[in-house]
Amino acid sequence: MAPLRNTGGAIVAAAISMAAILTYLLQNPRPKYYYSVGKFLSSKKKKSRNGGLIDAIGNTPLIRINSLSEATGCEILAKAEFLNPGGSVKDRVAVKIIEEALDSGELVRGGVVTEGSAGSTAISLATVAPAYGCKCHVVIPDDAAIEKAQILEALGATVERVRPVSITHKDHFVNIARRRAKEAKELALKQTKIDQLDAEDSEKTSNHILQGDQSVFPDDCKGGFFADQFENLANFRAHYEGTGPEIWEQTSGELDAFVAAAGTGGTVAGVSLFLQEKNPKIKSFLVDPPGSGLFNKVTRGVMYTHEEAEGRRLKNPFDTITEGVGINRLTKNFMMAKLDGAFRCTDMEAIEMSR
Ligand SMILES: Cc1ncc(COP(=O)(O)O)c(C=O)c1O
Repeated sequence: MAPLRNTGGAIVAAAISMAAILTYLLQNPRPKYYYSVGKFLSSKKKKSRNGGLIDAIGNTPLIRINSLSEATGCEILAKAEFLNPGGSVKDRVAVKIIEEALDSGELVRGGVVTEGSAGSTAISLATVAPAYGCKCHVVIPDDAAIEKAQILEALGATVERVRPVSITHKDHFVNIARRRAKEAKELALKQTKIDQLDAEDSEKTSNHILQGDQSVFPDDCKGGFFADQFENLANFRAHYEGTGPEIWEQTSGELDAFVAAAGTGGTVAGVSLFLQEKNPKIKSFLVDPPGSGLFNKVTRGVMYTHEEAEGRRLKNPFDTITEGVGINRLTKNFMMAKLDGAFRCTDMEAIEMSR
């Protein structure tokens, strides 16, 4: 990565994976932060929380990467998102998606949040949904590691493993997840009508939804909500209202640049926009892994990646060790980003930087 001018501030990298540094936490108790008010803040004020699981999300430490700081002469800090209870930045997103859905009435307690994800977002939704009295149903491709399904089930989620097909196919796992939310809603409506009619003799629906293509949710399900992390701007707001302000407070505004990779784009969008509004001199950059079209989108305005070029397309064009980052479509969340540039990174660079 090209060196950035050091003006005495710091460069912050987000969404890294590192081992927990307990001594750091003991010496640096998590500070209380004050949230700045900006035009994209959701109308509801930050909820007063009760010290439970949800309270343990966010306010993660910024850890100085000594080796890189010394090698570059810049202060390089990493936001330790792996210290969230669900192990990633996605806990913030899961909380925001669920809280906004509950506030709008699209989701109610006893309802089920559905998502098509084989990654961190599913783990975060499964982790936090019970804290809101909700359930979580995750649809994943059946070529994803079985351990992922096992972790989700251990967290109390129901998991549906489906054949991997193109995103344009109605049975792509994301499309099935969207459909399941609709089915859960319909089931709840039907149940309400049955209750209203007090129809003891009425035909009972089966106790569970979907075997193949039939229903899988229990009769007492109170409806469904599709989390839709790629297109739901609650994702962006989680970072605009949370991660961005935390970075600003933790660095006392003394930072030159912010660097992150993008999957849904929620993190780069929320943080970059927040920092730019606080101080337009702060630069934000994307780091893009192999197989992703975002680098070209940011630097040349065209969504294109070499791996997709005519005659070069591999069976798995996204054959990279980076998981969850890199994408070949523009999401609503990514479109909110205010980026000053982008860097390509190789798998080897990603591995080296993680050590
Ligand atoms: C651990 C982790 N960090 C970062 C990202 C990417 O962040 P975003 O989706 O906000 O672009 C992902 C995406 O799934 C992830 O799993």
